[in-house]
Amino acid sequence: MRHLLTPLDFSVGELEQLFDLATAIEQDRPRYAHACDGRILATLFYEPSTRTRLSFESAMLSLGGQVLGFAGADNSSASKGESVADTIRTVSCFADIAAMRHPKEGAAMVAATYATIPVINAGDGGHQHPTQTLTDLHTIRSLKGRLCDFTIGLCGDLKFGRTVHSLINAMSRYDDIRFVFISPPELRVPDYITEMLTEKGIPYTECIKLDDVIGDLDLLYMTRVQRERFFNEEDYVRLKDFYVLNRRLMKQAREDMYVLHPLPRVNEISVKVDPDPRAAYFRQVQYGKYARMALILTLLGIEA
Ligand code: NCD
Repeated sequence: MRHLLTPLDFSVGELEQLFDLATAIEQDRPRYAHACDGRILATLFYEPSTRTRLSFESAMLSLGGQVLGFAGADNSSASKGESVADTIRTVSCFADIAAMRHPKEGAAMVAATYATIPVINAGDGGHQHPTQTLTDLHTIRSLKGRLCDFTIGLCGDLKFGRTVHSLINAMSRYDDIRFVFISPPELRVPDYITEMLTEKGIPYTECIKLDDVIGDLDLLYMTRVQRERFFNEEDYVRLKDFYVLNRRLMKQAREDMYVLHPLPRVNEISVKVDPDPRAAYFRQVQYGKYARMALILTLLGIEA
């Protein structure tokens, strides 16, 4: 039995197969419409979510399967003190596969230890968010036709943003990737990540101003400041509007530089940028659904 806890749980070759499957699903929806008939997906969300949970549910329903779950810890026995281990043992009796989001780093790993069904990490604290990374990689591959030879800028909250951590991990396995980390000093990418890049000989630079580097980028990955992971509100208020990607900045960017964002957006991208053909964040949501459909089929071992 297989789980997805970090993006590295799939080899580069397996990811290629998964993205090919996602593209095949997009091109021939009827062929996959009953692939999961009789199967059940549980969504166990201890933290808020719009896209990830609904994307999983929509993915399973579009495969002919069914869904059950909870959308907040308050609605589950967690509020009575039940452990993740006991909850997942219970859910294993009701569902064939589970997607779990939890505020604690490592919670999905604990769940996988006790589960008798595949567990998908849908975000564990500030740690990892591998299905957002599948979404991001599938989007990049679909828009650019490749996953190598990019200068990718990651901008915003690089300290607490789990989508950032997962994406860097995943992209560090492709050839000729150059990272540009754009953040206020307080929200720098964690040392364990820069150490990993140094060890692997992958080039990266760090800077504070987006203006200085936007013209060099092939891809720009914007993120919101992660308010819920701050220790005090004052720091959040000071940093929340540090970056606002606007039309002026987009004029300095290359004609083929796509802007990605895991969403939700707060203020970090002006809505005036939305009509720009390089703004790819809503297309990214659509690609995410196909990536999750492919993931569900792969983890359940279903060939359609
Ligand atoms: C992200 C998350 O939950 O980490 N959202 C998502 O799943 N697309 C990003 C965020 O909340 O900022």
